[in-house]
Amino acid sequence: MTSTHAFWLAGRQATGETAFDVTSPWDGRVVGAVSVPTDAQVEEAVAAAYAVRDEFAATPAHVRAAALDHVSRRLVERTEEIAQLISAENGKPMKWARGEVGRAVSVFRFASEEARRFNGGEAQRLDTDAGGQGRLAFTRRFPKGVVLGIAPFNFPLNLCAHKVAPAIAAGAPIILKPAPATPLSALILGELLAETELPVGSWSVLPVPNDRMPALVQDERLPVISFTGSEKVGYAIMDSVPRKHCTLELGGNGAAVVLADFASDEDLEWAATRIATFSNYQGGQSCISVQRVIADAAVYDRLLPRIVAAVEAQVTGDPSDDATDVGPLVSEDAAKRVESWVDEAVEAGASLLTGGKRDGASYAPTVLADVPADVTLSCEEVFGPVLTVRKVNGEEEAFAAVNDSKYGLQAGVFTHDLQTAFRAHRALEVGGVVVGDVPSYRADQMPYGGAKQSGVGREGVRFAMEDYTYERVMVLTGLAL
Ligand code: SIN
Repeated sequence: MTSTHAFWLAGRQATGETAFDVTSPWDGRVVGAVSVPTDAQVEEAVAAAYAVRDEFAATPAHVRAAALDHVSRRLVERTEEIAQLISAENGKPMKWARGEVGRAVSVFRFASEEARRFNGGEAQRLDTDAGGQGRLAFTRRFPKGVVLGIAPFNFPLNLCAHKVAPAIAAGAPIILKPAPATPLSALILGELLAETELPVGSWSVLPVPNDRMPALVQDERLPVISFTGSEKVGYAIMDSVPRKHCTLELGGNGAAVVLADFASDEDLEWAATRIATFSNYQGGQSCISVQRVIADAAVYDRLLPRIVAAVEAQVTGDPSDDATDVGPLVSEDAAKRVESWVDEAVEAGASLLTGGKRDGASYAPTVLADVPADVTLSCEEVFGPVLTVRKVNGEEEAFAAVNDSKYGLQAGVFTHDLQTAFRAHRALEVGGVVVGDVPSYRADQMPYGGAKQSGVGREGVRFAMEDYTYERVMVLTGLAL
């Protein structure tokens, strides 16, 4: 018998009239029941956030920074418990769940640091022309208004942290809507925020069902929407509110390029291990997991067996076991979709080098070569533990292959050559180029976001703060400059 988890309405706990169960994708057990806010409760949270927006924007930096520091410290103290919860609701192996908590600790710490230094103001003299004599422009950033943060299931804690922490740091109230499959980690974040002195109404965590989101998205009191999730839903949101500020972190089909100069045994072992690990971490359910390997013909034949061996060495199984590398996907439906895409590719002529099997919500780490360009696996984001490998001749062909995608989130380029690194940075149509490693590398203070259909805007604490705020200039007149 599990108790029902309350949600967080304007900083206090509340329950609605209905609840839903959160189940483990590994064994189907009920991890917890979560109360659903009524329409009236959602209205109360929005009204409270809207009402407090000026007060919150004017809250001293040290108050916001102290609250962010507090959450960071408490996440450290409760790491193991929260990691277990992430693992239970999401199916993420404990080693990756602990890593996720560690990243959220950093996100709140970065946000507390940024809260202290953000918005110091910038002065610009205007007497550069006769008409501006005696005038000075002084610019500061102010919140655009209340942020509606819509988070995905794949990082149930850290991608909520990426919405909440920069909003608090910038003085923007936030309504956080977690993913229906994984709301429990977000509700814990609410517990930690409730221990702070942040003004009433400045934050809420509302597990609103997806079918009730359009009304919230349309609400004019919420001018900023920060969404992480699928391309289809993200663009549907943006198209439905063209006058709002939308940050969209969408899909990717991350490519790892291995070039001819990355050729020693040590190089190839490193590349193969990193590729195998990061095509499978959290079941491949990351927008920057490795989906495509693009290898130069000079190294292909030595790299491929190493990749297959490293993929086969991934330990699959129970996510609560510390030894497990790859657990289940978020649901059996998700695993069936992956299975159908792999089957389609194989029927169209792809060679299955390992994997290709489903058991319930689990899908075996899989490698394919010779995948036709027009199958779904080549065109869309698989969001599963599946890797395709392709041979190319030279850097130009490799970079063209990376760009031959509607997505452009991050790319990895294994090279030792500095000039090649700079050429990759210029040529690749992505939000981030990682040299010497996989596209899956992300440090949470870096700007993070996509080009092309991978999204609009940037996260990464300071960059999200810029996104949530706008510059307002004050012109001073009659000064003795
Ligand atoms: C994502 O899946 O977009 C987030 C990846 C990450 O934070 O590592």
